[in-house]
Amino acid sequence: MASELTLNNGVALPGIGFGVFQNPPEQTAAAVETALRTGYRHIDTAAAYGNEREVGEGLRRSGLPREDVFIETKVWVSDYGFDQTRHAFEKASAKLGLEVIDLLILHQPMPHYFDRTVAAYRGLEKLLADGRVRAIGVSNFMPEDLERLIERTDVVPAVNQVELHPYFSQPDVQAADASHGVLTQAWSPIGGITFYSGWGEGRKSVMDDPVLARIAEAHAKSPAQVMLRWHVQEGRSAIPKSTNPTRIAENFDVFGFELADDEIALIDGLDTGVRNGPDPRGRNEGYWDMKIPEA
Ligand SMILES: NC(=O)c1ccc[n+]([C@@H]2O[C@H](COP(=O)([O-])OP(=O)(O)OC[C@H]3O[C@@H](n4cnc5c(N)ncnc54)[C@H](OP(=O)(O)O)[C@@H]3O)[C@@H](O)[C@H]2O)c1
Repeated sequence: MASELTLNNGVALPGIGFGVFQNPPEQTAAAVETALRTGYRHIDTAAAYGNEREVGEGLRRSGLPREDVFIETKVWVSDYGFDQTRHAFEKASAKLGLEVIDLLILHQPMPHYFDRTVAAYRGLEKLLADGRVRAIGVSNFMPEDLERLIERTDVVPAVNQVELHPYFSQPDVQAADASHGVLTQAWSPIGGITFYSGWGEGRKSVMDDPVLARIAEAHAKSPAQVMLRWHVQEGRSAIPKSTNPTRIAENFDVFGFELADDEIALIDGLDTGVRNGPDPRGRNEGYWDMKIPEA
C-alpha cells in the first residue's frame, strides 16, 4: 500500500512520485506511461527540463482519469515576476495539456534578486486564488530564503523541494521547513546527483555506500529501495527518476518492509554536509538566464 502525505492546505500528495529531469523528450512519454502503469500517481517535471509536453502525453497514454494523478512543475527564474509567472503557468498548462496544475513551485530562490522572487510567488498566490493550481511551493530554498519569503507573502509554501539523499540530508532545511509546516520534498532521493555521468570526477556515489549495502542485504532489498523507504518513514516526499522499466518498478516497491530505528539512525549518520548540486545562493547568470519557449 503506497503512503500518502497531506500538504498544509489539505491537498493529498502520494509519498513516492516520479522525476523526469534529464529525460530526453523522446523517452519521457514512455517513462511516464510506464510509471503510471506501475502505480505511481505523482509526476515531477519543470519548465527547465523541456519535457512538459511529453509528461502530458504520457499521462494521456496511461488512460488514467486526470484527477487520479498529481502533476507538479516548476517556474524557471527567467520567468520570475508577477505577470511573467502567471504567463509561465499558461505556457506550462498548454504544454502539459492541463487546465489545472496540482503543484506549481519556484525552481530557485534567487537571493540576489529576491524582489523578483517575491513577485513571482505573488503570481503563484494569484493562480492559487483563481483555482488554476491546487498548491504552490518553492525549491532549493535555504532557511533564510524561506523566512524572508514567508515574511513578505500570504500563503505558506506547501513544499520545499531540495537536494536530499543520505550524503546530503540538510537537517537544518528540514527543521526550518517543519517549523513552518512546509513539506520537505527530496530531489535526487537515491543520490542521482552523486553519480550522474558527466557531472564532474571524484564524486562518491551514495549507491555504493557500505552501510546502505548492509541494510539492503538484511532486508533483501536494493540500496535504492532502502533510501526510498528512509524518506517514506521520515515523512518526506521523494521523486526518484528512471527511464528503465525494471528500476521504475523497483523504486515503487518500497511499501512491504520497515526499517528499524537503529537503521534509520545509521542512514541519518551518513550526512556529509556537502552539497553536490549547484549552490542555490550562487550567481550562475548564464544558467539562470535560459529562456523557456512559448507553448
Ligand atoms: N528542484 C531541483 O532543482 C531538482 C534538481 C534535480 C532533480 N530534481 C527532480 O528530482 C528528480 C529525481 O532526482 P535525480 O533525477 O537527480 O536523481 P535520482 O532520482 O536520485 O537518481 C536518478 C539516477 O539513478 C538511476 N537509477 C534510478 N533508479 C535506480 C535504481 N533502482 N538503482 C540504481 N540506479 C537507479 C537513474 O538511471 P536510469 O534512468 O538509467 O534508471 C538516474 O541516473 C528529478 O528527476 C527531478 O524531477 C529537481
